Amino acid sequence: MEILLIFKKKKKATGVVDLMVFEELYSSHYALHIGVAFIQQWQKFLSPGDAVAMRSQSYSSLSSTLFLIVISVCFSLASSRNPNILPRGSSLSVEHDSDLLISADNTFTCGFCSVGENAYCFSIWFTNSKEKTVAWMANRDKPVNGKGSRVSLQQDGAFVLKDVDGSTTWETNTSSTDVQKAELLDNGNLVLMDSSGKILWQSFDFPTDTLLPQQLFTKSKKLISKLRGGNYATGYFHFLFDNDNVLRLMYDGPDVSSVYWPNIDTNVFTNGRTNFNSTRIAILDDMGRFFSSDWMQFNASDSGSGIKRRLTMDHDGNLRLYSLNNGTGLWTVSWKAVMQQCLVHGLCGRNGMCIYAPEPKCSCPPGYEMDDPSNWNKGCKPRFTRSCSHSQQVRFVKIQHADFYGFDSSSLTNISLESCQTKCLEDCRCQAFGYKLSGDAKCYIKIELFNGHQSASFPSDIYLKLPLSIETSEPIVLNDTNRICNSSESTITIGASSSMYGAGGKRVRWVYLYSFASVIGAIEMLFIMSSWWLLFRRRDVHAVVEEGYRVISSQFMKFTYIELKKATKNFREELGQGASGAVFKGVLEDERVVAVKKLENAYQMEEVFRAEVSTIGKINHMNLVRMWGFCSESRHRLLVYEYVENKSLDKLLFAENILGWKERFKIALGSAKGLAYLHHECLEWVIHCDVKPENILLDGDFEPKISDFGLAKLSQRGRKNSEFSRIRGTKGYMAPEWALNLPITAKVDVYGYGVVILELVKGIRLSNWVEEDGEGQETELTRFVRVIKGKGQGEETAWIEDAVDTRLNGQFSRIQAAKMIEIGISCVEEDRNKRPTMDSIVQALMECEDVSRI
Ligand SMILES: *[C@@H]1O[C@H](CO)[C@@H](O)[C@H](O)[C@H]1NC(C)=O
Ligand SMILES: *[C@@H]1O[C@H](CO)[C@@H](O)[C@H](O)[C@H]1NC(C)=O
Ligand SMILES: *[C@@H]1O[C@H](CO)[C@@H](O)[C@H](O)[C@H]1NC(C)=O
Ligand SMILES: *[C@@H]1O[C@H](CO)[C@@H](O)[C@H](O)[C@H]1NC(C)=O
Repeated sequence: MEILLIFKKKKKATGVVDLMVFEELYSSHYALHIGVAFIQQWQKFLSPGDAVAMRSQSYSSLSSTLFLIVISVCFSLASSRNPNILPRGSSLSVEHDSDLLISADNTFTCGFCSVGENAYCFSIWFTNSKEKTVAWMANRDKPVNGKGSRVSLQQDGAFVLKDVDGSTTWETNTSSTDVQKAELLDNGNLVLMDSSGKILWQSFDFPTDTLLPQQLFTKSKKLISKLRGGNYATGYFHFLFDNDNVLRLMYDGPDVSSVYWPNIDTNVFTNGRTNFNSTRIAILDDMGRFFSSDWMQFNASDSGSGIKRRLTMDHDGNLRLYSLNNGTGLWTVSWKAVMQQCLVHGLCGRNGMCIYAPEPKCSCPPGYEMDDPSNWNKGCKPRFTRSCSHSQQVRFVKIQHADFYGFDSSSLTNISLESCQTKCLEDCRCQAFGYKLSGDAKCYIKIELFNGHQSASFPSDIYLKLPLSIETSEPIVLNDTNRICNSSESTITIGASSSMYGAGGKRVRWVYLYSFASVIGAIEMLFIMSSWWLLFRRRDVHAVVEEGYRVISSQFMKFTYIELKKATKNFREELGQGASGAVFKGVLEDERVVAVKKLENAYQMEEVFRAEVSTIGKINHMNLVRMWGFCSESRHRLLVYEYVENKSLDKLLFAENILGWKERFKIALGSAKGLAYLHHECLEWVIHCDVKPENILLDGDFEPKISDFGLAKLSQRGRKNSEFSRIRGTKGYMAPEWALNLPITAKVDVYGYGVVILELVKGIRLSNWVEEDGEGQETELTRFVRVIKGKGQGEETAWIEDAVDTRLNGQFSRIQAAKMIEIGISCVEEDRNKRPTMDSIVQALMECEDVSRI
């Protein structure tokens, strides 16, 4: 009303003054409200759904056309003032981004969700998740056109979704009932109610791939995964009450169906279930606890009230419970059904094999190749033709610890490998056989190859029957191929013939207004609205394309303390002690070997800790140790890292002397790349603050991986700066600015790196103290730098021989050694401005990466 007063007051003023007034309003975010208030004033002249145009005679036709858009957007905003209720006789249109129902507590939003180029589905999603997370869809397999489609609560009581051509895509069974309104409840249930408040239809009765807290899961319901990331169409993985009253996960693909959870090798009761109760109901409650009539029961690892959760049948075949972090809008997995992802059936299609590398991936066995490179559902096809004639010479290729589940033409016990092989040779249909040695020798003749997987603990091997002509390498190494979660994204396009919406166009009533001020105001609004509108459109499509695989592929998890205690066998095998805590070796239930760090100095609140840790969890670079998850329970703060095979650099360099020159150079370059990534390429700056050989781990190929980055941040919060500086850093690797109380920048890491690279060259701890010639003490580093600076100029190569580790016996590249010494010395300059950046160090090292040895 206040704003309307301004309208009236300024009516007679000149255009210039008005523009200023509106600019003021614009900057104080009032413009939107002006639009709404303004339209509310004019609403009495209009009926719902009408587009309104206003035109000023003094303005060009261009501005009046723009005006049309502005006003119709405003109008729809104004007409949905009661956002969680849609009364009988009204509708939501796909074109108006503001045509939404929002639950009273703002948790859920209902409206049209973009699922591809010009393709929309009527859906319910979480309002506050960072990437759009759909909880329900009405028409997942039949998206509607992005123009002209609408969903209406008709006068006859039915809720109907119509495409642009007027055809009904979806409708509820409530025609000829007394439905008065549609309402989106706080729990995410969209309900149709009659005048007495009785629910006649609810979306909770028709779940898609997600079960929400309070949503009853019954015998008539199923969760069915979407097809793949970015594609919401019905996929192949089902969560349902099976015929024997037991909740199961099942792959139901184009070729085969197969149950894979709970454990298919043990019976119902061993799995902790019962098949006697035929009630077939299950529910997830607000505390994150799941109960079912078949005794299936679990708790979220963060169980408690106030957290928004969802149980989703994911497109990779796993059933996961997710918890929303309302601060960051990101989801964390707080429970999952299948611990070993490769045990999901149907993942890699016919003949395909799921392997851990270490994340689950699909791969084709020797002699086979991917059928359709964009789609693992199609699996692998043989690179040979199978023939039963005796002229085809065959041989058997062994794949260790592998299986193709099912399709056994026979299974035999206590039989030798040779007899098993003969059985397969005799049976023309046999494509492979499985042989288990441990316990009873068992032989399985496979006539089809489905549900393939390989994992280190699987007790039997697969012998593939291949023609002699197929070359394979021994031993068999399955190639890293596509990540399961990263299946190619496809989008749906709906052919949009322009004539379709031309004809059904809306009645346009022209209202002439002569107010100069309002035109200027409207143009201002146009810019606000249109950019706002474009922003929404863009985000929609983007979110849809990205959401699918990211949620799953970032397997970043919150673990319970019990889980980690079990994984580390009660923290038995200690790998090392660091400033921030001890590290233990462990094996997760999905067989990933991990290093679990028990933090001693992390005092943050759970929320803060979780936010910081998820930032670190997103950092992914081959030269940085990957963080896979964390645990935060009462006083316990633990971090779960990938396990790096070899020891840390200090052990291999100073004590064991097994690093040749090639390895040393590789370590120098790799560590530089890792630090450069932290300093420059990550979204948030991460300064390591404790670069030293103990924090550089080496994998089986001596590829360095920097550990403990980001911990400076974890210890920093909630403490005084002085304490912070005392905690971080290690004597001998600490830049002078720590002592001088100067601000800490990325250059402290450059200093630490400088010491490390010189140690790689010299092969000794440079932080040790030594007697100075004659008077007092100095560090090895000071002496080293002093000696090099003294000699560096004159006689060319001689000084290099002295500077390099004598244990190498002269076996090193002079050019690379000189470059490393040069870099190292510039890194340990007192004046941090003289030190190079990590980026330029990577550049310099790469320039001499290829020089030959010596
Ligand atoms: C509509 O279908 C649901 C679920 O099948 C059922 O519970 C409900 O009674 C039906 N409503 C009407 C009005 O038929
Ligand atoms: C079957 O399960 C339901 C739901 O969990 C429970 O209320 C009921 O008592 C059970 N019936 C029997 C016979 O155990
Ligand atoms: C997140 O949820 C908790 C629990 O309901 C609440 O206390 C907190 O204020 C919420 N934080 C934000 C940022 O909404
Ligand atoms: C593995 O990949 C290499 C090249 O990347 C290819 O030459 C080889 O044939 C692949 N092996 C299999 C079994 O697909």
